[in-house]
Amino acid sequence: MTHPITLIPGDGIGPEVADATVRAVEATGAAVEWERMDAGAKALAETGELLPKAVFQSLQRTHVGLKGPTATPVAGGHKSINVTLRKRLELYINFRPVRTLPGLKTRFQDVPIDMVIFRENTEDLYSGLEHEVVKDVVESLKIITRTASIRIARATFQFARREGRKKVTAVHKANIMKLSDGLFLRCCREVAAECSEISYQELIVDNACMQLVMRPETFDVLLLPNLYGDIVSDLAAGLVGGLGIVPGANLGEKDAVFEAVHGTAPDIAGQGKANPTALMQSAALMLTHLGEREAGQRLQHAIEKVYAEGELLTADVGGQASTSEFTDAVIANLR
Ligand code: NAI
Repeated sequence: MTHPITLIPGDGIGPEVADATVRAVEATGAAVEWERMDAGAKALAETGELLPKAVFQSLQRTHVGLKGPTATPVAGGHKSINVTLRKRLELYINFRPVRTLPGLKTRFQDVPIDMVIFRENTEDLYSGLEHEVVKDVVESLKIITRTASIRIARATFQFARREGRKKVTAVHKANIMKLSDGLFLRCCREVAAECSEISYQELIVDNACMQLVMRPETFDVLLLPNLYGDIVSDLAAGLVGGLGIVPGANLGEKDAVFEAVHGTAPDIAGQGKANPTALMQSAALMLTHLGEREAGQRLQHAIEKVYAEGELLTADVGGQASTSEFTDAVIANLR
Protein backbone atom coordinates (compact mmCIF):
# COMPACT_ATOMS: atom_id res chain seq x y z
CA MET A 1 0.00 0.00 0.00
CA THR A 2 1.31 3.44 -0.94
CA HIS A 3 1.09 6.08 1.80
CA PRO A 4 0.17 9.58 0.60
CA ILE A 5 1.93 12.29 2.64
CA THR A 6 1.49 16.05 2.58
CA LEU A 7 5.00 17.50 2.42
CA ILE A 8 5.34 21.12 3.56
CA PRO A 9 9.02 22.01 3.00
CA GLY A 10 8.56 25.52 4.45
CA ASP A 11 10.98 28.47 4.31
CA GLY A 12 14.70 29.14 4.79
CA ILE A 13 16.50 25.83 5.30
CA GLY A 14 13.12 24.04 5.14
CA PRO A 15 13.40 22.94 1.47
CA GLU A 16 17.00 21.73 2.04
CA VAL A 17 16.16 19.57 5.08
CA ALA A 18 12.91 18.41 3.41
CA ASP A 19 14.71 17.28 0.23
CA ALA A 20 17.30 15.43 2.34
CA THR A 21 14.52 13.75 4.33
CA VAL A 22 12.57 12.75 1.22
CA ARG A 23 15.72 11.06 -0.14
CA ALA A 24 16.27 9.20 3.15
CA VAL A 25 12.62 8.08 3.48
CA GLU A 26 12.60 6.83 -0.12
CA ALA A 27 15.83 4.93 0.53
CA THR A 28 14.08 2.92 3.27
CA GLY A 29 11.96 1.36 0.50
CA ALA A 30 8.68 2.39 2.18
CA ALA A 31 5.99 3.10 -0.41
CA VAL A 32 5.25 6.80 -0.04
CA GLU A 33 3.79 9.41 -2.34
CA TRP A 34 4.42 13.09 -1.62
CA GLU A 35 1.92 15.91 -2.10
CA ARG A 36 4.24 18.92 -1.98
CA MET A 37 2.55 22.04 -0.60
CA ASP A 38 3.80 25.56 0.04
CA ALA A 39 3.08 27.31 3.33
CA GLY A 40 4.87 30.17 5.04
CA ALA A 41 6.59 33.28 3.65
CA LYS A 42 6.90 31.90 0.11
CA ALA A 43 3.21 30.97 0.02
CA LEU A 44 2.27 34.38 1.39
CA ALA A 45 4.25 36.14 -1.34
CA GLU A 46 2.80 33.96 -4.10
CA THR A 47 -0.81 33.43 -2.99
CA GLY A 48 -1.47 36.09 -0.34
CA GLU A 49 -2.08 33.30 2.22
CA LEU A 50 0.40 32.08 4.81
CA LEU A 51 -1.40 28.75 5.03
CA PRO A 52 -3.26 28.23 1.73
CA LYS A 53 -6.50 26.21 1.70
CA ALA A 54 -4.84 23.68 -0.59
CA VAL A 55 -2.68 22.56 2.37
CA PHE A 56 -5.77 21.64 4.41
CA GLN A 57 -7.38 19.99 1.39
CA SER A 58 -4.27 17.86 0.96
CA LEU A 59 -4.15 16.97 4.68
CA GLN A 60 -7.84 16.02 4.56
CA ARG A 61 -6.90 13.46 1.90
CA THR A 62 -3.62 12.19 3.32
CA HIS A 63 -4.20 12.63 7.10
CA VAL A 64 -0.40 12.75 7.50
CA GLY A 65 1.91 15.73 7.09
CA LEU A 66 5.67 16.20 7.22
CA LYS A 67 6.52 19.83 7.86
CA GLY A 68 9.73 21.83 7.71
CA PRO A 69 10.06 25.18 9.51
CA THR A 70 7.98 28.09 8.27
CA ALA A 71 8.59 31.80 8.81
CA THR A 72 5.77 33.61 10.59
CA PRO A 73 5.89 37.38 9.92
CA VAL A 74 6.22 39.07 13.32
CA ALA A 75 3.97 42.03 12.48
CA GLY A 76 0.70 42.13 10.56
CA GLY A 77 -1.52 39.96 12.70
CA HIS A 78 -0.63 36.67 11.01
CA LYS A 79 -1.43 33.66 13.14
CA SER A 80 1.34 31.11 13.54
CA ILE A 81 0.99 28.28 11.02
CA ASN A 82 1.75 25.69 13.67
CA VAL A 83 -0.95 26.98 16.03
CA THR A 84 -3.48 27.15 13.16
CA LEU A 85 -2.71 23.59 12.04
CA ARG A 86 -2.99 22.27 15.61
CA LYS A 87 -6.33 23.98 16.17
CA ARG A 88 -7.94 23.25 12.78
CA LEU A 89 -6.91 19.58 12.74
CA GLU A 90 -7.49 19.09 16.50
CA LEU A 91 -3.93 17.83 16.97
CA TYR A 92 -4.19 17.62 20.74
CA ILE A 93 -0.98 15.75 21.46
CA ASN A 94 2.42 17.33 21.12
CA PHE A 95 4.81 14.41 21.19
CA ARG A 96 8.53 14.85 21.56
CA PRO A 97 10.94 11.98 22.20
CA VAL A 98 14.25 13.22 23.61
CA ARG A 99 17.15 10.80 23.33
CA THR A 100 20.89 10.99 23.44
CA LEU A 101 22.39 10.43 19.99
CA PRO A 102 25.41 8.10 20.20
CA GLY A 103 28.73 9.92 19.96
CA LEU A 104 27.24 13.42 19.94
CA LYS A 105 29.19 15.72 22.24
CA THR A 106 26.89 17.55 24.65
CA ARG A 107 27.20 18.68 28.26
CA PHE A 108 25.28 15.54 29.24
CA GLN A 109 26.98 13.11 26.86
CA ASP A 110 27.82 10.62 29.63
CA VAL A 111 24.22 10.41 30.83
CA PRO A 112 21.89 8.09 28.87
CA ILE A 113 18.79 10.23 28.29
CA ASP A 114 15.67 8.60 26.87
CA MET A 115 12.48 10.45 27.73
CA VAL A 116 9.23 11.13 25.90
CA ILE A 117 7.24 14.30 26.40
CA PHE A 118 3.45 14.48 26.00
CA ARG A 119 2.27 18.08 25.97
CA GLU A 120 -1.41 19.07 25.80
CA ASN A 121 -1.62 21.08 22.58
CA THR A 122 -4.95 22.91 22.46
CA GLU A 123 -5.69 24.94 25.59
CA ASP A 124 -4.14 26.40 28.77
CA LEU A 125 -2.65 29.90 28.35
CA TYR A 126 -2.40 29.26 24.58
CA SER A 127 -6.14 29.72 24.11
CA GLY A 128 -5.37 33.27 22.97
CA LEU A 129 -7.97 34.82 25.31
CA GLU A 130 -6.43 38.08 26.46
CA HIS A 131 -7.86 41.50 27.11
CA GLU A 132 -7.04 44.78 28.80
CA VAL A 133 -9.24 45.11 31.88
CA VAL A 134 -8.39 48.77 32.43
CA LYS A 135 -5.42 50.72 31.13
CA ASP A 136 -2.15 48.94 32.00
CA VAL A 137 -3.91 45.91 33.46
CA VAL A 138 -4.11 42.87 31.17
CA GLU A 139 -5.79 39.55 31.80
CA SER A 140 -4.83 36.35 30.00
CA LEU A 141 -7.11 33.36 30.52
CA LYS A 142 -5.79 29.94 31.37
CA ILE A 143 -8.32 27.36 30.19
CA ILE A 144 -8.08 23.80 31.50
CA THR A 145 -10.88 21.35 30.74
CA ARG A 146 -11.57 17.83 31.89
CA THR A 147 -12.09 16.66 28.29
CA ALA A 148 -8.68 17.86 27.09
CA SER A 149 -6.85 16.76 30.24
CA ILE A 150 -8.33 13.25 30.21
CA ARG A 151 -7.58 12.71 26.52
CA ILE A 152 -3.91 13.78 26.79
CA ALA A 153 -3.51 11.64 29.94
CA ARG A 154 -5.09 8.63 28.17
CA ALA A 155 -2.84 9.08 25.14
CA THR A 156 0.20 9.23 27.42
CA PHE A 157 -0.61 6.10 29.38
CA GLN A 158 -1.65 4.21 26.24
CA PHE A 159 1.75 5.05 24.73
CA ALA A 160 3.57 4.05 27.94
CA ARG A 161 1.76 0.71 27.98
CA ARG A 162 2.29 0.04 24.27
CA GLU A 163 5.99 0.90 24.35
CA GLY A 164 6.76 -0.86 27.63
CA ARG A 165 7.63 2.36 29.46
CA LYS A 166 7.84 2.19 33.24
CA LYS A 167 6.96 5.60 34.66
CA VAL A 168 4.80 8.64 33.87
CA THR A 169 5.57 11.96 35.58
CA ALA A 170 2.78 14.56 35.59
CA VAL A 171 4.11 18.12 35.86
CA HIS A 172 2.00 20.89 37.41
CA LYS A 173 1.80 23.95 39.67
CA ALA A 174 -1.35 22.90 41.51
CA ASN A 175 0.04 24.23 44.79
CA ILE A 176 -0.59 27.75 43.39
CA MET A 177 -3.12 27.22 40.57
CA LYS A 178 -5.29 24.98 42.67
CA LEU A 179 -8.33 24.98 40.40
CA SER A 180 -6.82 24.80 36.91
CA ASP A 181 -3.73 22.66 37.51
CA GLY A 182 -5.70 20.88 40.23
CA LEU A 183 -8.20 19.71 37.59
CA PHE A 184 -5.37 18.66 35.26
CA LEU A 185 -3.80 16.61 38.06
CA ARG A 186 -7.09 14.97 39.07
CA CYS A 187 -7.54 13.82 35.47
CA CYS A 188 -3.97 12.44 35.37
CA ARG A 189 -4.57 10.54 38.64
CA GLU A 190 -7.84 9.13 37.34
CA VAL A 191 -6.17 7.71 34.23
CA ALA A 192 -3.11 6.57 36.21
CA ALA A 193 -5.40 4.53 38.46
CA GLU A 194 -6.58 2.59 35.38
CA CYS A 195 -2.97 1.67 34.52
CA SER A 196 -1.54 0.28 37.74
CA GLU A 197 1.38 -1.46 35.97
CA ILE A 198 2.91 1.94 35.15
CA SER A 199 4.36 3.87 38.02
CA TYR A 200 2.95 7.38 38.39
CA GLN A 201 4.67 10.39 39.90
CA GLU A 202 3.84 14.09 40.21
CA LEU A 203 6.33 16.96 40.23
CA ILE A 204 5.83 20.69 40.62
CA VAL A 205 7.13 22.35 37.44
CA ASP A 206 9.99 24.30 39.04
CA ASN A 207 11.29 21.20 40.81
CA ALA A 208 10.80 19.20 37.60
CA CYS A 209 13.10 21.64 35.75
CA MET A 210 15.82 21.26 38.37
CA GLN A 211 15.52 17.46 38.42
CA LEU A 212 15.64 17.37 34.62
CA VAL A 213 18.99 19.15 34.65
CA MET A 214 20.43 17.28 37.64
CA ARG A 215 19.08 13.77 36.99
CA PRO A 216 17.73 13.61 33.43
CA GLU A 217 18.30 9.85 33.26
CA THR A 218 15.59 9.27 35.90
CA PHE A 219 12.79 10.57 33.63
CA ASP A 220 10.79 8.26 31.40
CA VAL A 221 7.47 9.71 30.12
CA LEU A 222 6.38 13.27 31.02
CA LEU A 223 2.80 14.52 30.89
CA LEU A 224 2.24 18.28 30.90
CA PRO A 225 -0.32 20.99 30.19
CA ASN A 226 0.48 23.27 27.24
CA LEU A 227 2.64 26.06 28.70
CA TYR A 228 4.85 23.93 30.97
CA GLY A 229 5.07 21.42 28.12
CA ASP A 230 6.34 24.06 25.71
CA ILE A 231 9.05 25.23 28.09
CA VAL A 232 10.07 21.82 29.45
CA SER A 233 10.29 20.24 26.00
CA ASP A 234 12.84 22.84 24.88
CA LEU A 235 14.76 22.41 28.14
CA ALA A 236 14.83 18.67 27.49
CA ALA A 237 15.97 19.20 23.88
CA GLY A 238 18.86 21.24 25.26
CA LEU A 239 20.02 18.22 27.27
CA VAL A 240 20.64 16.16 24.12
CA GLY A 241 22.08 18.76 21.74
CA GLY A 242 19.34 21.28 21.02
CA LEU A 243 16.36 21.89 18.79
CA GLY A 244 18.37 21.23 15.63
CA ILE A 245 18.25 17.51 16.22
CA VAL A 246 15.13 16.56 18.19
CA PRO A 247 12.04 15.34 16.32
CA GLY A 248 8.44 16.28 17.04
CA ALA A 249 4.89 15.31 16.16
CA ASN A 250 1.43 16.80 16.57
CA LEU A 251 -1.11 14.03 16.79
CA GLY A 252 -4.91 13.93 16.77
CA GLU A 253 -7.52 11.20 16.43
CA LYS A 254 -7.44 11.24 12.62
CA ASP A 255 -4.54 13.42 11.56
CA ALA A 256 -0.86 13.78 12.36
CA VAL A 257 1.75 16.36 11.42
CA PHE A 258 5.40 15.47 11.99
CA GLU A 259 7.76 18.41 12.20
CA ALA A 260 11.22 19.69 12.91
CA VAL A 261 10.93 22.04 15.86
CA HIS A 262 13.80 24.34 14.87
CA GLY A 263 13.23 27.51 12.85
CA THR A 264 14.08 28.51 9.29
CA ALA A 265 17.73 29.36 10.15
CA PRO A 266 17.93 32.33 7.73
CA ASP A 267 21.64 32.77 8.60
CA ILE A 268 22.59 29.52 6.84
CA ALA A 269 19.72 29.06 4.36
CA GLY A 270 20.74 28.14 0.82
CA GLN A 271 24.32 27.29 1.80
CA GLY A 272 24.01 23.51 2.01
CA LYS A 273 24.96 23.59 5.71
CA ALA A 274 21.63 22.74 7.36
CA ASN A 275 21.38 19.70 9.59
CA PRO A 276 18.42 17.55 8.49
CA THR A 277 18.52 15.30 11.60
CA ALA A 278 15.41 16.77 13.26
CA LEU A 279 13.21 16.33 10.20
CA MET A 280 14.70 12.91 9.42
CA GLN A 281 14.01 11.69 12.97
CA SER A 282 10.49 13.13 12.68
CA ALA A 283 10.11 11.15 9.43
CA ALA A 284 11.20 7.99 11.27
CA LEU A 285 8.34 8.60 13.74
CA MET A 286 6.03 9.22 10.78
CA LEU A 287 6.93 5.88 9.19
CA THR A 288 6.12 4.10 12.45
CA HIS A 289 2.81 5.99 12.65
CA LEU A 290 2.01 4.82 9.10
CA GLY A 291 2.54 1.21 10.14
CA GLU A 292 6.00 1.07 8.51
CA ARG A 293 7.67 0.37 11.85
CA GLU A 294 10.57 -1.57 10.40
CA ALA A 295 11.39 1.21 7.90
CA GLY A 296 11.13 3.79 10.70
CA GLN A 297 13.51 1.85 12.92
CA ARG A 298 15.99 1.34 10.07
CA LEU A 299 15.99 5.07 9.32
CA GLN A 300 16.50 5.89 13.01
CA HIS A 301 19.39 3.40 13.28
CA ALA A 302 20.97 4.72 10.06
CA ILE A 303 20.97 8.26 11.49
CA GLU A 304 22.39 7.06 14.82
CA LYS A 305 25.18 5.17 13.03
CA VAL A 306 26.32 8.36 11.28
CA TYR A 307 26.47 10.06 14.70
CA ALA A 308 28.28 7.12 16.30
CA GLU A 309 30.93 7.22 13.55
CA GLY A 310 31.11 11.01 13.92
CA GLU A 311 32.85 11.64 10.58
CA LEU A 312 30.09 13.15 8.44
CA LEU A 313 28.28 15.50 10.80
CA THR A 314 27.14 19.01 9.94
CA ALA A 315 28.75 22.16 11.38
CA ASP A 316 26.09 22.86 14.03
CA VAL A 317 27.06 19.60 15.79
CA GLY A 318 30.79 20.04 15.40
CA GLY A 319 31.38 18.48 11.97
CA GLN A 320 32.26 19.77 8.52
CA ALA A 321 29.89 17.83 6.27
CA SER A 322 27.28 19.43 4.04
CA THR A 323 23.58 18.57 4.20
CA SER A 324 23.95 16.24 1.22
CA GLU A 325 27.10 14.51 2.55
CA PHE A 326 25.32 13.77 5.83
CA THR A 327 22.27 12.53 3.90
CA ASP A 328 24.41 10.31 1.64
CA ALA A 329 25.94 8.76 4.79
CA VAL A 330 22.49 8.02 6.24
CA ILE A 331 21.39 6.48 2.93
CA ALA A 332 24.58 4.38 2.72
CA ASN A 333 23.68 2.92 6.14
CA LEU A 334 20.22 2.03 4.86
CA ARG A 335 21.55 -0.05 1.99
P1 NAI B 1 16.18 29.15 14.26
O1 NAI B 1 15.92 27.81 14.83
O2 NAI B 1 15.82 29.33 12.83
O3 NAI B 1 17.74 29.47 14.37
C1 NAI B 1 18.47 29.53 15.60
C2 NAI B 1 19.94 29.12 15.34
O4 NAI B 1 19.99 27.70 15.17
C3 NAI B 1 20.54 29.73 14.09
O5 NAI B 1 21.89 30.02 14.31
C4 NAI B 1 20.41 28.62 13.06
O6 NAI B 1 21.40 28.66 12.05
C5 NAI B 1 20.55 27.36 13.91
N1 NAI B 1 19.80 26.21 13.37
C6 NAI B 1 18.46 25.98 13.50
N2 NAI B 1 18.13 24.85 12.87
C7 NAI B 1 19.26 24.36 12.32
C8 NAI B 1 19.54 23.21 11.53
N3 NAI B 1 18.60 22.33 11.20
N4 NAI B 1 20.82 23.02 11.12
C9 NAI B 1 21.78 23.87 11.47
N5 NAI B 1 21.58 24.98 12.22
C10 NAI B 1 20.32 25.22 12.64
O7 NAI B 1 15.44 30.23 15.18
P2 NAI B 1 15.13 31.77 14.93
O8 NAI B 1 16.33 32.44 14.33
O9 NAI B 1 14.64 32.25 16.22
O10 NAI B 1 13.92 31.82 13.91
C11 NAI B 1 14.06 32.07 12.51
C12 NAI B 1 12.69 31.96 11.83
O11 NAI B 1 12.15 30.65 12.03
C13 NAI B 1 11.61 32.93 12.33
O12 NAI B 1 10.93 33.43 11.20
C14 NAI B 1 10.67 32.07 13.16
O13 NAI B 1 9.33 32.55 13.09
C15 NAI B 1 10.78 30.74 12.46
N6 NAI B 1 10.50 29.58 13.33
C16 NAI B 1 9.71 28.59 12.83
C17 NAI B 1 9.46 27.45 13.57
C18 NAI B 1 8.60 26.39 12.98
O14 NAI B 1 8.07 26.54 11.90
N7 NAI B 1 8.44 25.24 13.65
C19 NAI B 1 10.01 27.27 14.92
C20 NAI B 1 10.87 28.35 15.34
C21 NAI B 1 11.09 29.47 14.57
